Amino acid sequence: MPAMLILGIESSCDETGVALYDAAGEGRLLAHALHSQIVMHRDYGGVVPELASRDHIRRTVPLLRKVMSDSGRALGEIDAVAYTQGPGLAGALLVGAAFAEGLAAALGRPAIPVHHLEGHLLSPLLSRRAPAFPFVALLVSGGHSQLMRVDGVGRYRRLGETLDDAAGEAFDKTAKLLGLPYPGGPALSALAERGRPGVCRFPRPMLDSGDFDFSFSGLKTAVLTRVREIGQPDERQCADIARGFQDAIVDVLVKKSLGALRRCGLGQLVVAGGVGANRELRRRLDAQAGKADITVFYPEFEFCTDNGAMIALAGALRFKAGIAQKTAGAFVVRPRWPLGELMG
Ligand code: KG4
Ligand code: ZN
Repeated sequence: MPAMLILGIESSCDETGVALYDAAGEGRLLAHALHSQIVMHRDYGGVVPELASRDHIRRTVPLLRKVMSDSGRALGEIDAVAYTQGPGLAGALLVGAAFAEGLAAALGRPAIPVHHLEGHLLSPLLSRRAPAFPFVALLVSGGHSQLMRVDGVGRYRRLGETLDDAAGEAFDKTAKLLGLPYPGGPALSALAERGRPGVCRFPRPMLDSGDFDFSFSGLKTAVLTRVREIGQPDERQCADIARGFQDAIVDVLVKKSLGALRRCGLGQLVVAGGVGANRELRRRLDAQAGKADITVFYPEFEFCTDNGAMIALAGALRFKAGIAQKTAGAFVVRPRWPLGELMG
């Protein structure tokens, strides 16, 4: 079977990702490479957009070289170049988009602009144990928290979303309150593992709202109030707070996900986005899956956070379905881009 090689480039935030995916037959990831800017942004307590853009410029070519050499393929064999068109930081997106469009034009191949969240949504399809359409997706990243019904490539219906902070954002902001380094999510969840359950109990926002929307900013405020009450929490108190915070978020995410599955009459749940790496969330969902007749799918840990493989995959599925490819050349990026608009 002749190969159908799709290169994927991700540069929407603080990770530069490049990957090569062979869309022929069952499809197969041939190689991928990633550079995370976490260390660079750490001193500032968050992502500095201009530094992010400049670093993407430095990293893209070396990562592409590595992917081509690891896969043993030549640039001339690439059939299409997929890249993240949005949402994300405008400057960072421009770097990846300009590079991808330029490369596609030089190769005389089409370019495929990809929605970053579509990449996250489809990322569990990179696993050997992959879900089949239709499924419900819980998308929990730094910028987004949504429940979606996924009927096929490009066929997404929003069931609910956060009204304020995204789950990852709530993790990051709460971590900052507790003096943990950026990015806060992994640090906070590591601390929570040492906390005692039930010692700090925080509200479960919108747990019983009857819809699939979330709200997490009140939870962050509750943590702030708790920290102020204590004054200078010691390590044990911080761990208990982290535990209470994580339990509250996980409770809401689990209950809403199960409700969405019931509403749609579906049995498959896909968890995608950075917060999908959270071990407590996985434990709780797996425990539920044991009781209810549902199956939960996660991307591999390395594909939970931003990466090029999910963009190459989303591009490959679009390329195969004959949707959304364009002649390389003029392009736009879409820093704000609701996923619902993909349905068009
Ligand atoms: O999907 P992602 O890499 O980037 C966006 O598209 O936003 O998600 C990053 C988010 C950050 O907020 C980070 O703190 C959070 O995912 N995160 C976690 C964990 N690992 C990453 N949150 C909770 N527990 C984790 N283990
Ligand atoms: Zn992301």
